[in-house]
Amino acid sequence: MLAFAIFAVTFVVALIAAVVYFNPSGSSKRRSTVPGMDPTDPNEGNFPDMGAAGSLHEFLMKLHKTYGSIASFWFGKTFTVSIASPELFKEHIGLFDRPPELFALFEPLIGQKSIQYANKADGRKRRNMYDPSFAHTSIGNHYGTFNELAGELVQKLLTIPKDEHVSLMQHCHALVITALTRTSFGDFFKSEELINKFRQAYNNCWYDMERSLFQGLPVKGSDREKKFNKALGFLHDTVRNTLKECRANPTVGHQSFIDVLLENELPEDQILSDCVSYMVGGFHTSGNLFLWILYYLASNHDCQEKLHQEIKEVLGDGEVDNSNVKDMKYLRQVINEGLRVSVLAPYAARFQDNDSKLGGHVIPGGTPVMHALGVVLLDEELWPEPEKFDPERFSLANFTPRHKMGFQSFGFAGKRVCPGKYLSYAETSVFVAVLCRDLKFNLVEGQVVEKFHGLVTSPKSEIWFTLEKRG
Ligand code: HEM
Repeated sequence: MLAFAIFAVTFVVALIAAVVYFNPSGSSKRRSTVPGMDPTDPNEGNFPDMGAAGSLHEFLMKLHKTYGSIASFWFGKTFTVSIASPELFKEHIGLFDRPPELFALFEPLIGQKSIQYANKADGRKRRNMYDPSFAHTSIGNHYGTFNELAGELVQKLLTIPKDEHVSLMQHCHALVITALTRTSFGDFFKSEELINKFRQAYNNCWYDMERSLFQGLPVKGSDREKKFNKALGFLHDTVRNTLKECRANPTVGHQSFIDVLLENELPEDQILSDCVSYMVGGFHTSGNLFLWILYYLASNHDCQEKLHQEIKEVLGDGEVDNSNVKDMKYLRQVINEGLRVSVLAPYAARFQDNDSKLGGHVIPGGTPVMHALGVVLLDEELWPEPEKFDPERFSLANFTPRHKMGFQSFGFAGKRVCPGKYLSYAETSVFVAVLCRDLKFNLVEGQVVEKFHGLVTSPKSEIWFTLEKRG
């Protein structure tokens, strides 16, 4: 509880610092007819209300409950609109540009040159350049790696005695980090020692960034800042060395992310920023998805048995590949329901330069519009008993076009939806299928598992499992 009381206060401080940094003069106070909240404080806007709610996602849940599917609030001094319905999402489907001020907290880690802040022609050019290395066809080349990594984890888990309590978070994160670095950086990133060091440095940076939510940015020259800079320096050095090796030994055939960065002779600061941005985009999202799915399966043994049956029928003792993955329809339903109920990445955002119309209201040019993806994923009208894990929601018979527009965990607008979508589905399918074929997951009784909607939704504390070897 204490941690959350601290969070409530410091979340506000960190957001204010970030907004002032990106927008020192504050922005105009133009309003529109969109219903919503007045600022609680002339400078802080509704930050105190976000702190009281516990997170931006929980604040948006309350906001939309009170004002409906289009509602406004004040992000500091910035008038901001939020939308939360499949119909309103459709109205924003073509937009590309993202308001940088809402994502300012990531800046120390991903850098000013990050794709996260690249709009208009620059943003579109980068996406056109990078997307092919994460497209469906490219990801097809990585199934072998995913199977190999999942098999190694199974071997490790099989050595754990049946009644031992085991936390799977570290295992899930390690697997995903290894998969993403190998997929993105190719053969030059194979050493386990290097991957472990990279993971450690990445974790130091990530936890410092989450700490900024609690305690604000590190003081200049402090030990904390030095530790952060050292870890970030290691990530950058590793990328630089990988680039050097790639330059000396160009790959033929399949092009990974790093090959694309090299081939286009991009400035080094952009390469470093974008490499870290893709790692940040992919590590905790996919790692937590994997963990949440194991948790929901362990809490719902009927679903776990149905899934195990399907996996045995489709795979036997073989590997998951690009073609048989399509036959595991229930697995896909389980992944989709895991994405929905965990509310992994609760929002995206867009803006337009000129005045526009949305839900019948005029939206002044430059106004950030949040896509409250998480609010719609928990909308009772769309998903009855929204907190319940029920993969049947995604069966062919139950999943309508309206559900499809409401189920947008990877964003939906413009050519800027999450570039890691295919990679996440492919690796999660392999990891869950291989683990659930060989192991049965049980939850240690008496635990209360709660969500923490930080930068990505994580469990508030470790989740404890016991494991049984399948016959
Ligand atoms: C289950 C896993 C994931 C979820 C739920 C998720 C969700 C999201 C969401 C909601 C966005 C914002 C989209 C928008 O603005 O419309 C996004 C952007 C992004 N994601 Fe993911 N993501 C996941 C995995 C990944 C992976 C594996 C990668 C790495 C390849 C990645 C890299 C990125 C990047 C770089 C962006 C920013 C793209 C841009 O600015 O154009 N994500 N993600």
